[in-house]
Amino acid sequence: MAETHHEIVKVWIAPGCIVCDACETDCPEVFEVQEETCIVRPEAVSADFTKPLTPSIITAAEGCPVEVIKFESIEVEGPEPWAGQEQEQAAGAPAAGGAAPAAAGPPIQEGPPDPKWSGLLSDSRISHRGRSDGPESREPPPPARAPVEAVAEALPADAPPDARAAAMIGSGFSRPRPGIADRIRKRGEGLTRREIGLISGTGAILAVGWGGIAFVGATFGAALQSFMVPKLIKEPPSTFRAGRVSDFPEVGVYENFKVSLGVWIVHLSSGKLVAVSTICTHLGCIPNWLSNDSKFKCPCHGSGFTVDGINFEGPAPRPLERLKIYREGEFVMIDKSKIFRQELGQWDAAGASIDV
Ligand code: FES
Repeated sequence: MAETHHEIVKVWIAPGCIVCDACETDCPEVFEVQEETCIVRPEAVSADFTKPLTPSIITAAEGCPVEVIKFESIEVEGPEPWAGQEQEQAAGAPAAGGAAPAAAGPPIQEGPPDPKWSGLLSDSRISHRGRSDGPESREPPPPARAPVEAVAEALPADAPPDARAAAMIGSGFSRPRPGIADRIRKRGEGLTRREIGLISGTGAILAVGWGGIAFVGATFGAALQSFMVPKLIKEPPSTFRAGRVSDFPEVGVYENFKVSLGVWIVHLSSGKLVAVSTICTHLGCIPNWLSNDSKFKCPCHGSGFTVDGINFEGPAPRPLERLKIYREGEFVMIDKSKIFRQELGQWDAAGASIDV
């Protein structure tokens, strides 16, 4: 029966790569570890490229902690073409004493060994599928357990999914990638735009989050303060200076303080100056002074009052009230806290009017 062997004609990466760098270490010609995943180099899509790298690819696949390296192979007649190369490399590796062993056959190449074959020949990472030491060794030796299998067997069945990767790293079969924090400490060396964006985006999210908390706290504090602090209604003073006596020389109604203080200053034809409340004695509306009709007229229900405040039409039951008025030197003072009512005979009392 003719001797045959397998050669890899297609390689791909399944989803789930943890970017541990193991595959690039085992077979850098085919695998390239990038920021987010491992890829198959563009030139490695060719079967002619992958065939001679079959041992390295198999080693990488066996060493992948998450087993995402997949390949497709074909059976080829004849002995494994790389068997001799590997043997030569093994024979040409420096001995412990430092001197290469003398051997017959082709000259041994000086210089550092090919990293591919160094990887294959080192420790347990070597794949026996490609080795050939002679006719006797054609019988395939028992397959060496790949590190990933040994680690898997050593772990308990209920170990978490990332335990195998951690064990691979801990045993030295894989090396962890430096964290983002370490790379920041190196002044951003090697950071990708995505990582820089992730960092700045995280900072922005934190800023927005803290800003929102501060805004809610400030709003709540303001609402609490508004609730706790008593509401003070600022009222106009009850006593005020209306002006000089000479400011009211003519007989008539002065409306200077109607809106602001609710008072008419009325210079009566009798020569007295009185302060009249602007509140209608019916239901509290504010009457208007109609100079042409010489009367106060309430717009609400039509009550009418003479210039001195006597009710004469409409529903108002009594005259307008007068407020305390007095002199303070040459000034006219009004005290709204003291009221004089005509129906009570108070208009003749002191303080109900002043002479001008
Ligand atoms: Fe003035 Fe009724 S409130 S007439």
